[in-house]
Amino acid sequence: MTYTAKPCDFSDKQAGYRQLAAQLHGLLEGETDPIANAANTAALIFDALPEVSWAGFYFLRGDELIVGPFQGKPACVRIALGRGVCGAAAAGRNTLIVPDVNAFPGHIACDSASRSEVVVPLIARDRVVGVLDLDSPRVARFDEVDARGLERLATLLMQASRWEDLQ
Ligand code: SME
Repeated sequence: MTYTAKPCDFSDKQAGYRQLAAQLHGLLEGETDPIANAANTAALIFDALPEVSWAGFYFLRGDELIVGPFQGKPACVRIALGRGVCGAAAAGRNTLIVPDVNAFPGHIACDSASRSEVVVPLIARDRVVGVLDLDSPRVARFDEVDARGLERLATLLMQASRWEDLQ
């Protein structure tokens, strides 16, 4: 690990995500355990990003997503593939930005304070292994810059970790 804690400056969002990606790279260096790496990734994202009330992972087991390492309030444990924002992103294998969770059919409200959400699928060797999920108390908190920045972080996590150890 070559990580030193330093606040990222998100006044320029793209620059903020570049700093965060560099920190995550250092944080994951030399470690392949997927749970340890997911836990540190969730903590880093939650600590760095403004206006985020929940950041963490769900892992796919059979046809269900099961909650993994996260930061924030306790969350629902099991989400069927295709259900909610997480299940839709995993089933569709694409990042979903939901500006208003109340307007998303089937949104699963773990935290009544959540107003917007972004979910990035985690793909290893062409298989979905889970999702990275972020909630915000502000409507329309997440945009395409967040989506691309978080996809980059998810890719760093995927490349650093031995996902077969999770099976
Ligand atoms: N809102 C998500 C459920 C997970 S929580 O936000 C932590 C969904 O609709 O899939």
